[in-house]
Amino acid sequence: MDLKSMYNPVARDLAAVEANFIGLADKWQTEFPELHDMLRHTLTGGKILRPALTFLAGRCLDDKTDRILNMATANELLHISTLIHDDAIDHADTRRGKLTVNNIWGLEKAILLGDFLFARAGEFAAATDNLRTVKMFSNTLQTIAVGELRQARDVFSPRQSREGYFQRISGKTASLLRMSTESGAVLADGTEEQIQALSDFGYNLGLAFQIVDDILDFTGTEKELGKPVGSDLRQGTITLPALLLMEQQPEDNPVKDFLEGKDRENSIIRVINIIKSTGLIDESYALAVTYSEIALALLDTLPPSVYRETLKKLTSYLIRRRV
Ligand code: IPE
Ligand code: IPE
Ligand code: MG
Ligand code: MG
Repeated sequence: MDLKSMYNPVARDLAAVEANFIGLADKWQTEFPELHDMLRHTLTGGKILRPALTFLAGRCLDDKTDRILNMATANELLHISTLIHDDAIDHADTRRGKLTVNNIWGLEKAILLGDFLFARAGEFAAATDNLRTVKMFSNTLQTIAVGELRQARDVFSPRQSREGYFQRISGKTASLLRMSTESGAVLADGTEEQIQALSDFGYNLGLAFQIVDDILDFTGTEKELGKPVGSDLRQGTITLPALLLMEQQPEDNPVKDFLEGKDRENSIIRVINIIKSTGLIDESYALAVTYSEIALALLDTLPPSVYRETLKKLTSYLIRRRV
């Protein structure tokens, strides 16, 4: 089953998010065409996972609620702004199979567009008129920024640990998936236990999701990924598979050679080959599966519904995805 059909129970909800995006871009069409083009370029082409999670989590608890749309829109806008800044920081040329904002319009405009979208996301979060979700939004934005700062601090550092890795992915990715499900549960007036279960579900799914993203950076093809293979390592970011390699062979390994600047191009190829030909990918997947199983078990505490089943299917799909 593909993502689009999996999203079927919330298809109308997601269409409303897209309509918000089109409205947001088209508002600038005559007055400021360049901003319009930048918005049209960045607001499309993703998996729209975060709003799907917000709607599915909310509808698990109240299938009639009409209070979720603004927050679902905020969650995706926050995600997109972090990607725009992430690509600017990484000087990435492509994303979602398209050129990045920094590539087409330059670094300065990418930073400013990201700022604009952060602010617009905040406005959508505030439009919920729910103080709890507004607080959640500002906390999550801070947490993501700290996660990205940790990553920036650690680039090319040989002293990286599993603990540091989990701290980083928890901040930069799991926090936003947590907010995506938790905010849906809050707006659907769930009980505190239900809100907690959906919050923890999003968080554990987020850890699994980022581990898989980090694996795909080694095992995917440029065509599948929409960006070059091995990008993380090239940028000096040591993700789980490379970290496991360093743990296994602490004295002599190509990751260390790469970090020390010894024939970088050749070292990268050696790292990718070793990682793909040993059990490190399986070991990394095993960790992602562990978190996805924790996530799945949390769903069993909720009332059965098509939305709960969809969250289950989505979790398994995201572990097996290639893009
Ligand atoms: C990319 O997220 C950034 C990570 C947290 C790994 P997605 O893979 O959800 O990106 P899009 O929205 O589908 O492009
Ligand atoms: C997610 O991490 C980025 C943010 C949370 C901002 P990645 O750096 O792995 O995302 P990709 O791989 O560039 O999509
Ligand atoms: Mg990146
Ligand atoms: Mg990645």
